[in-house]
Amino acid sequence: MLDLTHTTKEHDESRQGEALLLEQDPKISNGRKLYIESYGCQMNFSDSEIVASILLDKGFETTKNYQEADVVFINTCSIRENAEQRVRNRLKEFEAAKTRNPGMIVGVLGCMAERLKSKFLEEEKLVDVVVGPDAYRDLPNLIDKVDDGAKAVNVLLSREETYADINPVRLNSNGVTAFISIMRGCDNMCSFCVVPFTRGRERSRDPQSIVKEAQDLFNAGYKEVTLLGQNVDSYKHTAPVAEGETPGETVTFAKLLTMVAEVSPLLRVRFSTSHPKDITDEVLYAIASHENVCNYIHLPVQSGNSRVLELMNRTYDREWYMERVDAIRKIIPDCAISTDVITGFCTETEAEHQETLSMMDYVKYDFAYMFAYSERPGTLAAKRYEDDIPEDVKKRRLTEVINKQRDHSLYRYQHFIGKVCKVLIEGFSKRSEFDFCGRNDQNALVVFPIDPRYKQGDYVNVLVESCTSATLLGKIVD
Ligand code: SAH
Ligand code: SF4
Ligand code: F3S
Repeated sequence: MLDLTHTTKEHDESRQGEALLLEQDPKISNGRKLYIESYGCQMNFSDSEIVASILLDKGFETTKNYQEADVVFINTCSIRENAEQRVRNRLKEFEAAKTRNPGMIVGVLGCMAERLKSKFLEEEKLVDVVVGPDAYRDLPNLIDKVDDGAKAVNVLLSREETYADINPVRLNSNGVTAFISIMRGCDNMCSFCVVPFTRGRERSRDPQSIVKEAQDLFNAGYKEVTLLGQNVDSYKHTAPVAEGETPGETVTFAKLLTMVAEVSPLLRVRFSTSHPKDITDEVLYAIASHENVCNYIHLPVQSGNSRVLELMNRTYDREWYMERVDAIRKIIPDCAISTDVITGFCTETEAEHQETLSMMDYVKYDFAYMFAYSERPGTLAAKRYEDDIPEDVKKRRLTEVINKQRDHSLYRYQHFIGKVCKVLIEGFSKRSEFDFCGRNDQNALVVFPIDPRYKQGDYVNVLVESCTSATLLGKIVD
């Protein structure tokens, strides 16, 4: 049995220290304990599962208490200033533990490691190892270097690394839902975004290894997989061939979705994130034609104004986005749509902000992640545009966006009242041990009283009786 600790998802920055337990083949122990904590997006959480796998293979055991760890890793996010600040605060908390136990190795992984590189070692004296997202295979070697008394850095980005052959250790697992990384990096260069600098060039993972991972998860009792990438719609893989041979078929995202959906009709398939410029009708038809591909698309708009979208280098405009939403509504009529919004991007006027609000009225998103613009060093926006919207204006616009979204979530959820939804039971409700919780096809959280005939991992039909703006409430019906 292993314990690892996970925290803070970039989209839900209030989440803290969830402990977890999981089953693994026992390896020959090296007597050293690893603690790993993750911040940022699902990709980072998924990477921590790869890191854990690499070190468990070398005989490490895990602990959920950093105070007793020999190696403490923090897998970091750079997306906004406050994401980095949180990591620095956390490192201060590790300092006391390191003073008590000077042999403790402290490592910074992930996007902040990649952004700051060896500067990290100067800025934060307690840090021994700095490792970027493409260098995790080198971790055992880097730890050896630190054991020999040196500091160690590997922030090389790769054009090929997908960790396809590494079997991730499932962290924080409920044994029902799991993430599968299908690609890495991003080639889009949205002007506000640090990801292309921290994660490098886009590359797609071999589809056979993805399908195998989904099949293995299903065989192990999992019932839902989420395919992860910064821009899943640009997934593209052609098997490498020897010179003179004809290349095989190129697998697109639509094809990949179909391949994963065909693992079993009992395995639900979700995916994130879709980029509005790349989401094709072919993908929409692939969703519509498979019952087990969930009717839910995360389609970040960022802004509802075409001039701001151009400054953001999103490469679509307001009309294009609306047309894609219309296509979704036509091809998958009951599809839920969620979004990301940034308020107060450089030079955004009040009228342009109003266009974001009117876009929200047009789509009536089921759900949204909303942020005030935070300038990131080195990005195109930081180089080209002045961060000229005062903090209080960004915040006020953000509040307006949040309030509107609350109304829209409630509007969407109210539509489920009186309907029966198929729900995958993920576990017990956080608020009550007498209730189960799970999600419906549209990714809405559903809470309902336990029925002893059913257990975690079962599908049940739930009649929705009431709702809040965040949860559907109901009861199991046969
Ligand atoms: N690949 C995804 C987004 C990844 S980052 C996509 O293209 O949609 C997640 C979200 O963080 C972004 O959608 C954006 O809304 C937000 N974000 C990124 N950089 C930001 C910044 N500098 N300031 C504020 N929010 C930012
Ligand atoms: Fe960042 Fe844009 Fe890439 Fe998303 S698509 S990760 S926002 S550069
Ligand atoms: Fe953050 Fe890196 Fe993800 S910057 S959002 S952890 S790709």
